[in-house]
Amino acid sequence: MPPNIPFSPGDEMIRIAVLISNKGTGSNLAAVIKAIDRGEIKNAKVAVVVSNKEDAYGLIRAKKKKIHAVTMDLKDFIRRGKSRTDFDAALGKLLKKEYKADLVVLAGWMLILSEKFIKYFPNKTINLHPGLLPSGDADFIKLSDGTKIRAIRGLHTDDAVQFAIDQGYPATGSTVHFITPKVDQGPVIIRSEVKILPNDTVETLYKRMKDEEHKILPKAIALFCENKLKIKKGRVIFT
Ligand code: GAR
Repeated sequence: MPPNIPFSPGDEMIRIAVLISNKGTGSNLAAVIKAIDRGEIKNAKVAVVVSNKEDAYGLIRAKKKKIHAVTMDLKDFIRRGKSRTDFDAALGKLLKKEYKADLVVLAGWMLILSEKFIKYFPNKTINLHPGLLPSGDADFIKLSDGTKIRAIRGLHTDDAVQFAIDQGYPATGSTVHFITPKVDQGPVIIRSEVKILPNDTVETLYKRMKDEEHKILPKAIALFCENKLKIKKGRVIFT
């Protein structure tokens, strides 16, 4: 759809696949569903939620909303003699062919996805990361007060939050970015910066980070669905 043309009945809905795990509670999935219900994300629906662990609370949230909920366990796959890249290819194929997904959202997904997956969704998979990232491979990122901190790559959930506290950073935050084969280096769509307070624990800081994640993830998806994101030379351009 060309940019800035409002959705009119008859246009096809953008089908979103949300990938989660049991490391969180699916709170970002819930924020996405709410934003669709409220019309903040237009012309879209969550077509399927996939977890690589069957005890992910997000699967229960999906079922309550009558959304297809699928478990695809990597360990099962390996037990059946398949490889890690077979898993990526099978996941890509499932989302593309069976669920006809147009956009994949990693909202608490813990497995790195290789080119075998990405080839099904080039520039159509976005990741939510609990750390501030630059677009590309720079080691550092500038906070709003001018302080430079090291980008937090390769750490998940609580570990990424703990790292920011341990480093004594004045702030940390979350990033929504397109994925590329280079982990945590894809073009950035939105970041939210969150101040670290003197008595912060992982729990108190992560709570404030998640409150922001619940805003920036739906916002990034809304921009995608309105066709307002283009990628040029490894950077996101807002059209
Ligand atoms: C989110 O905080 C997200 O940033 C993080 O998982 C959490 C899921 O929370 N993602 C990663 O760590 C991936 N590197 P939720 O289940 O409450 O939405």
